[in-house]
Amino acid sequence: MTLGYRGRAAWSLLLLTLAAPTASPLKLAVDGQTVVDQLTKLATFTDDPNPAVTRILFTENDMKARSYIKQLMAEAGLKVREDTMGNIFGVLPGANPNAAAVGTGSHCDAIPLAGMYDGTVGVIGGIAALGALRKANFLPARPLEVVMFTSEEPTRFGLSCSGSRAMAGVLDAEYLDSRRDENGTSYLEAAAAAGYGAGSYEDMLKGARRTFSDLSYFVELHIEQGPLLEQQGQQIGVVTAIAAPAALRVSFSGDGGHAGAQLMAWRNDASLAAAELALFVERAALGTGSPDAVATTGFWDISPKAVNSVPREAVLEIDVRDIDGGRRDGVVAAITAEAASIAERRKVRHTVDLINRDPPATSSPFVLQAVRAAVSELGYSSREMVSRAYHDSLFMAQVAPTAMIFIPCRNGWSHRPDEFASPEDIARGVKVLAHTMAFLAGNARAEDRQEL
Ligand SMILES: *[C@@H]1O[C@H](CO)[C@@H](O)[C@H](O)[C@H]1NC(C)=O
Ligand SMILES: [Zn+2]
Repeated sequence: MTLGYRGRAAWSLLLLTLAAPTASPLKLAVDGQTVVDQLTKLATFTDDPNPAVTRILFTENDMKARSYIKQLMAEAGLKVREDTMGNIFGVLPGANPNAAAVGTGSHCDAIPLAGMYDGTVGVIGGIAALGALRKANFLPARPLEVVMFTSEEPTRFGLSCSGSRAMAGVLDAEYLDSRRDENGTSYLEAAAAAGYGAGSYEDMLKGARRTFSDLSYFVELHIEQGPLLEQQGQQIGVVTAIAAPAALRVSFSGDGGHAGAQLMAWRNDASLAAAELALFVERAALGTGSPDAVATTGFWDISPKAVNSVPREAVLEIDVRDIDGGRRDGVVAAITAEAASIAERRKVRHTVDLINRDPPATSSPFVLQAVRAAVSELGYSSREMVSRAYHDSLFMAQVAPTAMIFIPCRNGWSHRPDEFASPEDIARGVKVLAHTMAFLAGNARAEDRQEL
């Protein structure tokens, strides 16, 4: 019989509910400053001088960061393993080695001129959580693992979350093969040069595949990257849903011409078609009436880009996000229809390409219950919230029941060199993560523990 993870999650919920009352309270030693010192050291592996951090997939600095992460995992007493995509795992074995693991983790790559906390807090903090559980002599029933995902950021190959997409089995070999970096290098070549990869894209992707039979739950610790926790003075964000983007590329092309000689009545200016569409993009998001629907025209290119020339080509890239996939796709459809209608009215040619469309994720009620229990056990203040940015958890949610834990970051700043999270907030996040994972894994030393 094959049970999907949702069916089996309900079954393990019952078992853990029976086991829970016997668990003794955890006393974990987590030093936020130690985590910050490790984050600071990790930040030195960068293509741009600190405080900026730039770390691109499989480059020299990324490889140095990878060695450092493996070193920290080993020092925390975790078993290190890597897969064909370059995902790095640190495993704390469970009393039942055959049980599906409880996972955490995040990413260590950084977009150009970013900061030192995005993603890294979930990796080094994850190692600290597992290390603290091990030091406290906690014996999990299920194995615990922390993963450093390969390439959450799209910088090198224009593809985000490549490690977690591969784990979820939603990365297409042909598509990956079609990607090239700025020097024409393919993903497989870059992976091989870094000591990863396989004989073919298919084998590389297969080597990273995870299923619910080896991963039972996933929970990611991350900085909020928004201002709400700080503004409202709350210590922990309990993430109930992750919004997901769809991206469109719309090209308009007209006939151009001399800015003087081409009289207004004769023109079909591609740039003005683009301008109308960009304004429609804003109206389409606002028109849903939901604050969760957002749409942005963040890339705009016209040619020939000369002051005395009527623009002949205009290319827009449009990002539409929501936590409700149906509503988001409705906005995408409206933008697509409007592009056609503008093109007809302005007598320009046009194409619309859907570059990407990922499903939003709703957090698992059971993992959320574990996070809430951890927050209340530790006595922290918290609020429920939505993740507007997307994370590897978006794809892990397709493998196993998943949720996320947010901590505040100064002014909500992220993806910039002055990104900052305090040692105290980091320590609280690590403790909530550790308690959550302990709860999800089950305490093997609890006397009348149920078999997993
Ligand atoms: C592309 O090549 C240039 C010049 O050799 C190099 O500096 C750069 O790091 C390369 N890019 C990547 C992503 O490896
Ligand atoms: Zn991140």
